[in-house]
Amino acid sequence: MNRASLDKQPHEVASMFDKVAKNYDLTNDVISLGQDRYWRKQVAAAVAARPGEKVLDLAAGTGTSSLPFTRAGAFVVPCDFSLGMLTEGKKRNPWLPLTAGDATKLPFQDGAFDAVTISFGLRNVQDTDAALRELYRVTKPGGRVVICEFSHPTWAPFRTVYEEYLMRALPPLARQVCSNPEAYEYLAESIQSWPEQAELAAMLQKAGWEKVAWRNLTGGVVALHRGAKS
Ligand SMILES: C[S@@+](CC[C@H](N)C(=O)[O-])C[C@H]1O[C@@H](n2cnc3c(N)ncnc32)[C@H](O)[C@@H]1O
Repeated sequence: MNRASLDKQPHEVASMFDKVAKNYDLTNDVISLGQDRYWRKQVAAAVAARPGEKVLDLAAGTGTSSLPFTRAGAFVVPCDFSLGMLTEGKKRNPWLPLTAGDATKLPFQDGAFDAVTISFGLRNVQDTDAALRELYRVTKPGGRVVICEFSHPTWAPFRTVYEEYLMRALPPLARQVCSNPEAYEYLAESIQSWPEQAELAAMLQKAGWEKVAWRNLTGGVVALHRGAKS
């Protein structure tokens, strides 16, 4: 079993990420055609972490998505349930407090964080609503959430080109750089079956988040959703 199926059984998802951990960051750079760096800058700007704030970076993988918050002077806790990804992260940045945990049963107290964020992780969690409720629970009143996830281009011609890239060009490209190309077939399929921007916003509201809004990046290839806990 080299890839998860679309019912996203947690043991299959964790095992798939264990297998891609070593080349994960390099593969990201290649298949996103370098856009991942721009997306991460936009996430950091949206979270706007201040020195001393506590930030949870959920589904942090190797911790690459956590680094911008440490640069801002915040105390960031990268959390993930793939021990392979966490181990790779620990090798690269031994000082990061990488923490094992499941998004649907977070090992943190209520109101522990000023800000919570998740980049390219929520789509892989089997129970999205449970993860959104857990993110809400561990956020302080007055705190905020930022979700960065692949989404759906809004301009129809670009959407057609992008979907062709996902389904036809991406798998052979991944075969060149990645030891487990089947994981990138899962990537393409899971992006296509992911909710549209407005639908994800409604899910955030259902979990209790207020002032929910989103911004499209790269024409909607990625969307940044944000919300607040009053
Ligand atoms: C595509 S990687 C994203 C890693 C990192 N946030 C980044 O931006 O590079 C998705 C991560 O989600 C994690 N993940 C998926 N489901 C999870 C869950 N239920 N609990 C914790 N982590 C989960 C996987 O283990 C994987 O490391």
